Amino acid sequence: MATRSDAQGQGIGTLVLNAVFDHVAAEGGDLLWCNARVSAIAFYERAGFRTWGEQWVIPAHGPHVVMWRRIEPGRV
Ligand SMILES: CC(C)(COP(=O)(O)OP(=O)(O)OC[C@H]1O[C@@H](n2cnc3c(N)ncnc32)[C@H](O)[C@@H]1OP(=O)(O)O)[C@@H](O)C(=O)NCCC(=O)NCCS
Repeated sequence: MATRSDAQGQGIGTLVLNAVFDHVAAEGGDLLWCNARVSAIAFYERAGFRTWGEQWVIPAHGPHVVMWRRIEPGRV
């Protein structure tokens, strides 16, 4: 995911993540994971994600790590 550079820091990324959490819960999912840029770890941690495993490099996109979080079944 990405927010246009001139619109970052205004809560748009958080709104998108919350919509994703609601969608996963509505579909009966209870765990969400992603391949996160290392530079975005703090953003995902604020949203309840934790890192898992070792980092690796995606050529042209830089270092990444798997991040995950549980989704509460009753959030929608
Ligand atoms: C990561 C990204 C999607 C966040 O989108 P955003 O719309 O700026 O996010 P928000 O405004 O909801 O930010 C929520 C909080 O996280 C913080 N935050 C955002 N990006 C951050 C980052 N890369 N590192 C640390 N903190 C970050 C914000 O300062 C904000 O903090 P606050 O609640 O104290 O104000 C955006 O910075 C982006 O597009 N980055 C470039 C692409 C990228 O790295 N995408 C992730 C690939 S996995």
